[in-house]
Amino acid sequence: MNKEFIKRRKNLMRMMGEDAIAILPAATVKTRNRDVEHDYRQDSDFLYVTGFEEPEAVAVLIPGRGHGQYILFSRERNEEMETWHGRRAGQQGALERYDADDAFPISDIDEILPGLLEQRQRVFYTMGISDEFDQRVLAWLKQLRDNSRSGTQAPHELISLDYFLHEMRLFKSPKEIKLMKTAAKASVNAHQRALQSCKPGLYEYQVEAELLYEFKQAGCATAYPSIVGGGANGCILHYTENNEALQDGDLLLIDAGAEYQGYASDITRTFPVNGTFSDAQRALYDLVLEAQLAAIDAVQPGNHWDQPHIEAVKVLTKGMVKLGILKGRPAQLIKEGAYRKYYMHRTGHWLGLDVHDVGDYKIDDQWRIFEPGMVLTVEPGIYIPEGSRGVPKCYWNTGIRIEDDVRVTKDGNEVLTQALVKSSEDIEALMATSVA
Ligand code: GLY
Ligand code: MN
Ligand code: MN
Repeated sequence: MNKEFIKRRKNLMRMMGEDAIAILPAATVKTRNRDVEHDYRQDSDFLYVTGFEEPEAVAVLIPGRGHGQYILFSRERNEEMETWHGRRAGQQGALERYDADDAFPISDIDEILPGLLEQRQRVFYTMGISDEFDQRVLAWLKQLRDNSRSGTQAPHELISLDYFLHEMRLFKSPKEIKLMKTAAKASVNAHQRALQSCKPGLYEYQVEAELLYEFKQAGCATAYPSIVGGGANGCILHYTENNEALQDGDLLLIDAGAEYQGYASDITRTFPVNGTFSDAQRALYDLVLEAQLAAIDAVQPGNHWDQPHIEAVKVLTKGMVKLGILKGRPAQLIKEGAYRKYYMHRTGHWLGLDVHDVGDYKIDDQWRIFEPGMVLTVEPGIYIPEGSRGVPKCYWNTGIRIEDDVRVTKDGNEVLTQALVKSSEDIEALMATSVA
């Protein structure tokens, strides 16, 4: 991967132009409770540019600088600290393993960084992620301005780094796709295991445990908190308590994805707790699947971002009229947005280092056109809570979503999560088997 990081930094510096400097801080460590910290997750922008996974680090890019264009500030080696808290690359590691041109202890940054800023006109930095680091950047700039009477040149412009960097991140390289496929495979195995393990009486967290088992077996983290919602809980879009018993006759909605080397996958499957769909559940399920397949078909280079959503809404609205859930003419119901009562989210999002990945959805107020290398989710659903007036009772307490990860290719698309069963028949067949 080293070559790929070098290429990214080179591309980014080319876009920034001469006379510029970029500052990227690592994510901070966050306290969970008292002496316990949350699992550390590197900032995605920082990771994309450096591949460096330690906290307390700052990457600086200075295009065209003779003494080195890539400077990494990081923690110093320290035998005692490393004995207690784990290994550090140190400055030598930064140079040798992470290809920094120059490396300094993070404790020296206040002395060194103002000097680097002084020679540059434009500062690329993304404000608003860390208040504390924002204040430090502003303090360095102020220090230079305050010294301007002694001939110091302060940069004139502060520019958000997002624009260039997130545009780069939107297009996944073959190496990134390979990592995303590894994450996808772990998620497929996890959902398969959950389908095979599920039975009435289990608690939602017990099914979650099956997911985590497969994630960890594959060396993955969880990309986001897993949603394991039985019956009515499937109608709560961000349900994560996962603490209720699964009931015979209910559906179970699982939205869970593994993260591999920083890259996320994001899969949802919905299936009957007892292994067999009721007629009403099957009718709704088959409808959501029809919508998902139509939406995936619309992921083609040249189509725009909203086309999968438009296709999903068409199929869902027509189907809901047929099942007596909505009343009226589909075209009119779509115009009025009547479907939103039971389908209230959009059909997908970009996927990459972040599960809701970066990248613009519109350009100049027009939906973005799909291009090869983009990766997105396709995830229509229907959610009918208890007491939904005018809806036949057999559909109440039913939440269904089907979500896959899709890459735009030169002449169509590739579903990265294709290996996971999806039709109601295939789901039932898999549920009739046990974990290998
Ligand atoms: N798992 C988050 C989402 O589907 O967007
Ligand atoms: Mn998603
Ligand atoms: Mn999801």
